[in-house]
Amino acid sequence: MRDYDTVLITGATSGIGYELAKLFAADKYNLVVVSRFERTLHEVTEQFRALGSPRVVSIVADLSAANAAADIYQQTLLRGIDVNILINNAGAAEHGLFCETNVERDLSIIQLNISSMIHLTKLYLCDMLQQKRGRILQLASLASYQPTPLLSVYAATKAFILSFTDSLINELEGTGVTVTALIPGPTRTDFFRKAHAAQTRTAQNNLADPADIARIGYEALLKGKHHVTAGSSVKANVIMSNILPNESVASLARKNMEIVD
Ligand SMILES: NC(=O)c1ccc[n+]([C@@H]2O[C@H](COP(=O)([O-])OP(=O)(O)OC[C@H]3O[C@@H](n4cnc5c(N)ncnc54)[C@H](OP(=O)(O)O)[C@@H]3O)[C@@H](O)[C@H]2O)c1
Repeated sequence: MRDYDTVLITGATSGIGYELAKLFAADKYNLVVVSRFERTLHEVTEQFRALGSPRVVSIVADLSAANAAADIYQQTLLRGIDVNILINNAGAAEHGLFCETNVERDLSIIQLNISSMIHLTKLYLCDMLQQKRGRILQLASLASYQPTPLLSVYAATKAFILSFTDSLINELEGTGVTVTALIPGPTRTDFFRKAHAAQTRTAQNNLADPADIARIGYEALLKGKHHVTAGSSVKANVIMSNILPNESVASLARKNMEIVD
C-alpha cells in the first residue's frame, strides 16, 4: 500500500494538467478533477477511468471566482474525499500592453493564478499537516524568473507562486508534507491561444510536449523534490535570468512576446 491515493488537479481538462491526470490515472490514483466546463470534464473523466483510475470525481468550478476554492473544499469534505496530493495547475494569461488589457481580465487572472491557489493550498495543506503526509505541486514557470512585458500580470503571478512556494518549502521541512515547484518553459498547449498570444515569437518556436513536462513534474512531486525545470534550455534561462539585471531580462523576454508574421 502506498502513502498517497487521492489527487486533486485543477485544470485537468487540457494541456499539462490533463497529462498529469493521465499519469495519475494510469498509476491507479483516485482523481478529483476541476475545471469550468461540465461537458469537457465529463469527457476526460471517462478517459481517466478507462486508463485505470478507480474513482474519478469531477467538480465544475471557475477558479477566477472568489468562493471557488471554498466550494471545492466543501464538496470534497461532503463526499468524504481525503485529498493527499494537490496539483495547483490551472492558470491563464492575457497578451498585450498593460494599459490595453481589460482590467477585469487582469483581476480574474490574479484570482485564478494567485488567490484561488493560495486558498486551496491553505485548506488542503492544513489537513495534510494534521495527517503528517501530503504532496503539493505548484505550476510555476520560466516566467517566474522573468519580468515579461506584454504578459506583465501573468509573469508577476508566476513570480508570486515561486516566492510563495519557496517559503512553504522552508516551513514544511520535517512535517511529512512536501511542496514542489514545476518550472516549465513554453509548452504546446491551449495556453497561448487563450492568452491571445498564439502569434508571438515564443509560440512560433519549438514548444515542449506537455506530456514530457507532466512526466517530469510527476516524478519530482512523488520524490518530494523542491524544484524541477522542464523543457529545453529552461535551466540555462533560469541561470541567465538570475545573473542579468531585470531590465535586460525584461528586454529579452519582450522580444519573445512580440507578434511575428
Ligand atoms: N503552456 C505553457 O507554455 C506554460 C509554461 C509554463 C507554465 N505553464 C502553466 O501551466 C499551467 C497549465 O497551463 P497549460 O499550458 O496546460 O494551459 P491550458 O492547456 O490552457 O490548460 C489550462 C487548464 O486550466 C483550466 N482553467 C483555466 N481557467 C480556469 C478557471 N478560471 N477555473 C478553472 N479552471 C480553469 C482549463 O480548463 P477550462 O478552460 O476548461 O476551464 C484547463 O484545464 C498554468 O498554470 C500555466 O501558467 C504553462
